[in-house]
Formats: sequence, structure tokens, C-alpha cells
Amino acid sequence: MTPKVQVRAPGKINLALHVGPPRPDGYHPLATLFQAVSLYEDVVAEAADGVTLTIRGRGADLPTDASNLAVRAAQLLRETSGVDRGVALTLTKEVPVAGGMAGGSADAAATLLACDQLWGTGLGREELAELAAELGADVPFALTGLSAMGTGRGDLLTPVMSRGTYHWVLAVQGEGLSTPAVFRAFDAMHGLSADGAARAGGVAAADDAGSAGAGSAGGAEAPRVDPALLSALLSADPLVLARHLTNDLQEPALELRPELGDVLAAADRAGALAAVVSGSGPTVAALALDAPHAASVAGVMRAAEVAAEILTVTGPVPGARVLERVHAR
Ligand code: C5P
Repeated sequence: MTPKVQVRAPGKINLALHVGPPRPDGYHPLATLFQAVSLYEDVVAEAADGVTLTIRGRGADLPTDASNLAVRAAQLLRETSGVDRGVALTLTKEVPVAGGMAGGSADAAATLLACDQLWGTGLGREELAELAAELGADVPFALTGLSAMGTGRGDLLTPVMSRGTYHWVLAVQGEGLSTPAVFRAFDAMHGLSADGAARAGGVAAADDAGSAGAGSAGGAEAPRVDPALLSALLSADPLVLARHLTNDLQEPALELRPELGDVLAAADRAGALAAVVSGSGPTVAALALDAPHAASVAGVMRAAEVAAEILTVTGPVPGARVLERVHAR
């Protein structure tokens, strides 16, 4: 019996995010390139009777009941594996809350792996990945980490080769953005209704769930990642990668949060190679040449006072992994 397990899972940024019109289930077909970065969620899972959650670090005011994705992850694993044991979860959060960096998804991924180890469910990595996809579109990537292309809702992953380490400066806002609200703003900008029908002609609706869709918001093609971005990741050259950062949700995020324009401008003035809103925002990721350059960009951006916090991180980093397993004596 294992009485205590500690698991760490990373946050992510999207190097590219292409969005198609919404499917009948309300989700948007995506083509995205994820990179896991060195901001982490740590989950300690200890044997207990019920399922409880305590939150440390960021997000002390987040709910700790079944509306929290970590609690839902533990409950889903318990139901699926048929174990009748409980867990006391302690979550220490580094990833910004509602920041477009999939912090909640990393909590769920870390919890799945921690409870799997604690309870000895015998489920394989693949079955855990299926449960992850049930919990949310970004949860499978938090399990696998490193660099991956995401299609479907962002949950169908293809690992991507990447050379070198990239240095990022993150501008974190005090107040998060709601992901569904940003997708709704995207639909409104492109004249799309929630079921994918184009109000203003020309954009075909997506097929059934699982399909990448018959059209993208920008044209008749399904969204896809530019092969030049995949080559850039093999170059290990941040100057090459900088040319390929792109995000279809940046405009809608800017519409909801116009101040993000100041953050992007500040990153440019600070000498960042390029800057992009991460996922649905509002975190902005600015690419630097190397660690000293990142420190310098961060210093200038801090002085510009455009964000609640300026952090430096690196990527890619591994997905959810066990840090410590305490065995009963
Ligand atoms: O899967 P997850 O719970 O993380 O998604 C949160 C919300 O973001 C969804 O309910 C949906 O409104 C929006 N979303 C979307 N298309 C995606 C992923 C998320 O519309 N591919």
C-alpha cells in the first residue's frame, strides 16, 4: 500500500493556435502546437476516506468541491477503476488561474496520475489519457508534456520533435479570462453562431464530433499547423521560431481585454523576438534569445507595469511525472 504520492504537471503555451467554426457539440476544431513550460502544479495525494482538496499557492479562492477539475479527476478515476478508497489532495499551484496556460488541466492530469499510483488501479497510460480527454480538451497534453500538435478539440495529440530549450517571458494578468467567453467572441467576430453555422455566408459548419470540420473560420480548409513551424522547432533557433508564433484567439482576447495590446507593445519595446497571447489568454508569452536576454526583457516589461507579474520560464519540459512515492513501513 502506498500512503502518499507527489506528482508534478506543467502548464503550457500555444506556439500556434488555429481555430475552425464550432461543431454541433459547441467545441471548436483546433490545430495547435503545444509547448509545456516550467511552471508547475504539484499534487500530493494521501490515503483518506472521502475525496478532499486543499489548495496552496495561487488560486486559494478556487472551489474545492466537485466543481474543481482535480476533484472530478479523482472521482472519475475512482468510478472507472472501481476502487472504493478515498484521497486527500493537496494542490500547490504555480500556473496562473484562468490564464490560458491550462493550469486547471494540469491539476486534473497530476491528480489522475497521483491517484492512479496511490490506489494501484492498474490502468495503463492510454486509459489515463482517455479519462484525461473526458475531463477537458487540454488535460491529455498536461499528461504527455514536451511538444505536441493537438487536433480535434485539442485533445488528439501527435508528439512533435523539438530541439533546444526556448526561453520565454510571461506577462501574467491579475484577472483571468473565461475560455468559453473568448471562443464566443471569436464566433461573433467571424459571424458564426454557436452551432457552427455562418450567419454571414461562406463558412461551412463542422461535421460531427471528432471531425476537424469542413471549414475554418478563415476559409474553406480545416485548421492546420504550418509545417514551417515544425521545421522551426527542429532548428533550435529562437529567431526562426519567432516568425511562426500565431494565435486565432488573440484578436478576440484583445477585444475582451484591450489592455493586452499594451502588453504586446511592451514586449516589442523590451526587445522580445516575438510575443503572442497564450491560448485563450490573458497571459502573453514573449520569446527571448537565451536566459540573459529573457532576464533583460523581463526587467524592462516589469518596469512598464503592464502586468501583475512577469515570470521567466523555459520549454519544452516533460508532462505529469511522479516526484515522490512514500511507501508504508
Ligand atoms: O475542454 P475544456 O473544459 O477545457 O473547454 C472549456 C471550454 O472552452 C468549452 O466548454 C468550450 O466553450 C471552449 N472550447 C472550445 N473548443 C475547444 C476547446 C474549448 O470551444 N476546442
